[in-house]
Amino acid sequence: MTIFVYEMKSRLIREKFIQFFTERGHYHQPAVPIVNKDDPSLLFVNAGMNPFKDIILGNQPIVTPRVATVQPCLRVSGKHNDLEEVGVDTYHHTLFEMLGNWSFGNYFKQEAIKWSWELLTEVYKLPKDRIYVTIFAGDSQDNLQMDREAAQIWAQYLPEERILPFPKKDNFWEMGAHGPCGPCAEIHIDIRSEAERKAVPAADLVNKDHPHVIEIWNLVFMQYNRQASGKLVDLPNKHIDTGMGFERLAMVLQGKQSNYDTDIFTPLIAKIAQIVGKQYNQSETTAVAMRVIADHLRAVAFSIADGQAPSNTKAGYVMRRILRRAIRYGYSHLGMHRPFIYQLVSVLVEQVEGVYPNLTMQQAYIEQVIQVEEAAFLNTLATGLQLLNQLGQSKLNQGVIDGRVAFELYDTHGFPLDLTLLIAKEQGLSVDEAGFQQALQEQKLRSQKDASTAYSDWHMLSTEPQPHFVGYDQCRTKTTIVQWRTVTDKHGLNYQLVLAKTPFYPEGGGQVADAGSIVAGGETIAVLDVQKEHGLIIHTVHQLPADLAQPVEACVDVTKRTLAANNHTATHLLQATLKQVLGPHVIQKGSLVTPALLRFDFAHPTKLSAEQIQSVESIVNETIRANIACLEQHNVPLEAAKAMGAEGLFGEKYGATVRVVGFDQFSIELCGGTHVPFTGQIGLFKIVSETSIGTGIRRIEAITATVAESFVTTQSSDMAAIATLLAKPKNLVKAVETLVNEKKQLQKQLAIYQEKEIQQVATQLQCKLEEVDGVYCLIQAVQVPHVDALRQMALQYKLKYEQVFVVLATQLDNKAHIAVLLSDVLQKRFGKNAYDFIKWIAPYIDGNGGGQPFFATARGDKPEGIPVALQKASALFSKLMA
Ligand code: SER
Repeated sequence: MTIFVYEMKSRLIREKFIQFFTERGHYHQPAVPIVNKDDPSLLFVNAGMNPFKDIILGNQPIVTPRVATVQPCLRVSGKHNDLEEVGVDTYHHTLFEMLGNWSFGNYFKQEAIKWSWELLTEVYKLPKDRIYVTIFAGDSQDNLQMDREAAQIWAQYLPEERILPFPKKDNFWEMGAHGPCGPCAEIHIDIRSEAERKAVPAADLVNKDHPHVIEIWNLVFMQYNRQASGKLVDLPNKHIDTGMGFERLAMVLQGKQSNYDTDIFTPLIAKIAQIVGKQYNQSETTAVAMRVIADHLRAVAFSIADGQAPSNTKAGYVMRRILRRAIRYGYSHLGMHRPFIYQLVSVLVEQVEGVYPNLTMQQAYIEQVIQVEEAAFLNTLATGLQLLNQLGQSKLNQGVIDGRVAFELYDTHGFPLDLTLLIAKEQGLSVDEAGFQQALQEQKLRSQKDASTAYSDWHMLSTEPQPHFVGYDQCRTKTTIVQWRTVTDKHGLNYQLVLAKTPFYPEGGGQVADAGSIVAGGETIAVLDVQKEHGLIIHTVHQLPADLAQPVEACVDVTKRTLAANNHTATHLLQATLKQVLGPHVIQKGSLVTPALLRFDFAHPTKLSAEQIQSVESIVNETIRANIACLEQHNVPLEAAKAMGAEGLFGEKYGATVRVVGFDQFSIELCGGTHVPFTGQIGLFKIVSETSIGTGIRRIEAITATVAESFVTTQSSDMAAIATLLAKPKNLVKAVETLVNEKKQLQKQLAIYQEKEIQQVATQLQCKLEEVDGVYCLIQAVQVPHVDALRQMALQYKLKYEQVFVVLATQLDNKAHIAVLLSDVLQKRFGKNAYDFIKWIAPYIDGNGGGQPFFATARGDKPEGIPVALQKASALFSKLMA
């Protein structure tokens, strides 16, 4: 059913939205990266309002009271998590774009409602009679009344029977367990056919997960902050936060019944269909698989472009799971056993051309990362059967695969349970699913315990308007404590303080936090950590000053600060030099600046040659010697910074003005970190390692100043010592080379002699072998040149006899070693294996053992226990034979 004759293209939908709100005084702020760098409680941007949380909470001043954005969001973890729905239905996504308008302490309900109505009905021309709105019905627990004000305003636009009250669950928007929140009004639309509309009134279907009576826009009236205790307190100002689902709106405006039939998804789906050689609507299974792949590709590509590639931790792990979900659907339902998802990147890039330049710029890199991930996971899937066999067999109990084995496959090898079930079924086996769930639960509890951190609410001591950072100019500051709270985590109970002004640099931009102390009266309290959270600089200490109201002095550890500044400036010089030496494709992928070292990760496909490393070092050192002054400019408008050619404009979250740090024309970057006044202060720059940390990403670690100096000093004194040991040869490298070669020759000769010795012992042992009724037994202490000889000798017997039991022991370097061999036939006969024997006798040599059913070894600290251990083995053997 089409309610529109003219289908509005998705590009135009975005443009009209921004145009509408800029005409009404809104500043169009570009989207921020979807991967959150400075909010540990939220891995990804999950709503358009995230970047504005600090302003809403009143931690940052309101500079721009009206803002409109188009913000990609991800809802794949935490409070807002849609992952399992994605692909199965036709209107949930991992990544979706949210169209939003904001008022910060400016207009409120009246304008927000009026403009939403105007935009939908006059610009987008939605039929008015198909629109329904919901309002907040009130909540007794939070002591909140029904939002009659919103209902009255809506009544100016649509009849009362289409204004529906809903409880807190639906109409009170909260970002997370705590934080800014408020009642909301949702706009729903009915896109069913006339016949369906006659049969069931839409009002009965609102908020019932009907695919064609759906929410498109949420207007939140932000006015509370939910505290950690659950209590609601008023925000300093009232704000408007709206979010409209771009893909759903496109579905409506293009007269479709599924988001996946809009021009946002059809090119991707067409490409998938072409690659896999199947029709989208061939069956429900193919349709779901193609939807999953098209959706997930978008999430993963945006995330990689924003600096987060799939990995084994945190946000990277979430991405890896999403990509693997897509690969699995391709593998199981589309028969794709080779990488192909990466081929969709070019289609996506074409679609978002000009809207998200970050993707265009990094297309080749995104493709490469996805392709490598695909190949690696497909490999796991293909070898899955084998893996399952190996791990499963030892723990197979009457055709049931141990739940813990299934969990290990899932957890360590990324092998999803449903695939294990499938493979098991093909082999006529089943899986202990309850055991799997239990192991999963246990792991969840473990990680919750590790991660759980509890904060008290803030105790306010003063209403200092904007606590601020003075650390660019000062390292000691007299100040006061503005607010404090307790924090309890795995380290125990600590306290967190916000100061009226602080010289402490909070961790950020790759640079670690300043160290130092807070001096209060006679007390000196060490500062354990400094973090920035929602615009506040938070100092963690293990005790509070006795008198919280008295002035304090905040003192940064100047030596550490200076070392960190050296390394931060050196990082900028390194980045500029790498671009000069390797090319402009060198894009920063991560960095770490500490007083001890600097680490810089960047996109580059191959290992750097020794010459390249030398020339990078030499250019950086030359720039250091040139003693260039640091030019630091605050509050530079973004456009002006761009015009200066400043680095760091893409993929970073910046306000309308930025801080620019420059060293002549050599390096100009947007940066919040601390730097040297003149490059000469750095003294010396030395690269200590260059490695790969992932597909197409290299990592350089380097040191500067005194740390580099001691490194060079140690190296040259080590060289002098080596030269002395080798009687000061003319050519040191050649002399060491000769020594290494000689050693290799000697080792070869030694191995020949040792082999002869082992053969002799083996021949002597042959006479000690006893035989009773076809069962061969050898229990002996021997002298052998190395521990591997025990294994070699024992294993010889496995090939020779069907029923054989061998225990060999030896003393080497004051340690006892024992090896036990028990052939398969005897294992069955005794109901014991080699490992049982080792466990039984290892304690007599003060040792532990391990191994397989047919062969096990132990090592212990008590060689004098060998005779007893052998006796015990012999006694147990006789008992079993009896
Ligand atoms: N914060 C609201 C939401 O995410 C409106 O933008 O739905």
